Amino acid sequence: MRKPIVVGNWKLNGSHADNESLVTGVLSEMADMADMAAIDVAVCPPFVFIPQVEGLATSMSLGVGGQNCSEHDSGAFTGEVAPGMLFDVGARYVILGHSERRAMYGETNEIVSAKVKAALAAGLTPILCVGETLEERESDQTEAVVRQQLAAVIAGNGIAAFERMVIAYEPVWAIGTGRTASPEQAQEVHAFIRGQLADHDASVAQSVRIQYGGSMKPANAAELLAQPDIDGGLIGGASLKAEDFLGICRAAADTVGN
Ligand code: PGA
Repeated sequence: MRKPIVVGNWKLNGSHADNESLVTGVLSEMADMADMAAIDVAVCPPFVFIPQVEGLATSMSLGVGGQNCSEHDSGAFTGEVAPGMLFDVGARYVILGHSERRAMYGETNEIVSAKVKAALAAGLTPILCVGETLEERESDQTEAVVRQQLAAVIAGNGIAAFERMVIAYEPVWAIGTGRTASPEQAQEVHAFIRGQLADHDASVAQSVRIQYGGSMKPANAAELLAQPDIDGGLIGGASLKAEDFLGICRAAADTVGN
């Protein structure tokens, strides 16, 4: 049984005041939810707010992560943040290869693989994002694209590295658009991802958690999370509202034991 994992990707949003009310809102409800220990929950704020959020979350089982990191540990890389620095300020996760980074900041599969390597070496759990654009889906390229995205990380890190990672399947056309993949569409790709890993190691494939991301909200979370290969969610917009994020966490907790 894989433990569901729900992660909030705050993207470029937040302020000291907003973060405090969001995190305290989430934590106060979580404290009353008996089954919350059955799932992992984390939020990924912009870098500068990680210490604040980590401080607020300290007594509770709310993890904190970064949204990106450098593939380098230190040196002349102006503007970058090293994975060891994230770990040092309390982050335990890092989102890597998000489609916004791939599309807007030129991150190739090889760069993403190098970042995974650096993050693992620093003790972080990478959340590796994969997924196809609308154009790729409509031209039947979904499997080929996802296969290549995974293959680069397997080639660079070995299949055993996936024991220390989380994968997020995020169809680009569903991110921030309000257009969610149907449970069947998502399940199909999740099963494909697990199959790709199983070609290398069946037990790693069975144990790795694969989140769905792309316009997940309380109203559609339960049916997505009920799919056999969907083990949680990577939540953008809905993670900025305590009630919505909690609604998704509740739906994930409800799948445990069912
Ligand atoms: P969304 O974003 O939930 O706002 O679609 C998901 C993501 O980009 O991780």
